[in-house]
Amino acid sequence: MAEQDRTKLTGRITVPGDKSISHRSIIFAAISTGVTTIDNFLKSADCLSTMQAFKDLGVKIDEQKSQVLVKGVGLKGLTQSSQPLDMGNSGTSTRLITGLLAGQDFASTLVGDASLSKRPMARVTDPLSQMGANFTSTENHLPLMVFGRPLHGFNYRLPVASAQVKSAIILAALQATGETVIEEPTASRDHTERMLATFSPASIDRHGHQIIIHPGHPLTAQHVTVPGDISSAAFWLVAGAIVPGSAITIENVGINQTRTGILSVLKKMGAQLTIQERTQANNETEPAADITVTASKLQPFTIGAEEIPALVDEVPLLALLAARADGISRITGAEELRFKESDRLAVVAEEFRKLGIAIEELPDGFVIDGRQNWQLHSTDLDSHHDHRIAMTLKIASLLLSKPVTIRDFDAVNISYPSFLADLQRLRS
Ligand code: S3P
Repeated sequence: MAEQDRTKLTGRITVPGDKSISHRSIIFAAISTGVTTIDNFLKSADCLSTMQAFKDLGVKIDEQKSQVLVKGVGLKGLTQSSQPLDMGNSGTSTRLITGLLAGQDFASTLVGDASLSKRPMARVTDPLSQMGANFTSTENHLPLMVFGRPLHGFNYRLPVASAQVKSAIILAALQATGETVIEEPTASRDHTERMLATFSPASIDRHGHQIIIHPGHPLTAQHVTVPGDISSAAFWLVAGAIVPGSAITIENVGINQTRTGILSVLKKMGAQLTIQERTQANNETEPAADITVTASKLQPFTIGAEEIPALVDEVPLLALLAARADGISRITGAEELRFKESDRLAVVAEEFRKLGIAIEELPDGFVIDGRQNWQLHSTDLDSHHDHRIAMTLKIASLLLSKPVTIRDFDAVNISYPSFLADLQRLRS
């Protein structure tokens, strides 16, 4: 795609359902008893990988126009797939499903696309092996064979805050003999814990950074309403803050505090934000709000390791914010970004340099001087097959005076298939 993007963005939009919560809604629905109904499920490539995997494991899933219906089979009701389970590009599907399959009484093979096949799996297979799980792979990459076996509970302190690893262990622990206690260095997103507490309140306790899983309790079907994804809303929050003359309201955005780091940074920068919390129905465990952002002058910011988990997927966008701030910003403690759909630290630095942004790549982050005027060195930008990079570059292009192309832009289908349609709506 190539076009010139120099327009303010105005209006109200709703972003698609939360990716992390959509994955978990299918997983918990599948292993509970009864029919779970899911509203606002995200029909993007990653969540459809999770859905297809459970269909392959014998779960009946009915995709209606506005709802997904899942006929749960219980924790012991999954059946062996006749073919490898294809995880596509989805790290979340792979890691969570690995935890679940580790305790089943059949073997499974997980495969994925070229990017996913390069991503590290030892972070889940190591702790799961301590529970008695058994795997084979080449150097801990996909394809991964999971030989389901009886598991035992254990105490585990995560070396790095990771919701994927924590969730894989929780799903294994539900099938283990004995309790499991998980401790995190810093809180990562807690959608798994919240959802498990509704499907099976007796299965989970939480004390500070400790999560205790009590196996042996049934999970019961629920009605799940998925809020809008704050990681998708983040593109409009940033666009609204940096594109002169913009004013955008994003409706029904999930504001679980383990995800709202981007809002804290925007506030620190002096962005004009209004957050109007929505009233929650009784069975909703995830808070949501309507958020309005208006373009304004932005101050530089500094964030470190403690802040990263609550904004881990927004770091490329924060780099873009920094490139428009009135001073030098520092992002550190973000080495995990090197293990995402692309090496997001290297890729952001490479692509931002093409825009003439003053960016220094650190081993664990960036230093960015927003005072320097951008000077376009190349109009040939590259998403590196990474959905969040594709969308970050598209938002950056709104500030350029020349058209650019973004290679493999269709990577946006991983999390936000209607991104361009929403951009169009905000420009008209
Ligand atoms: C996710 C957890 C995060 C995040 C990913 C989704 C999840 O990964 O980056 O996009 O749904 O659990 P890590 O667990 O590797 O931090």
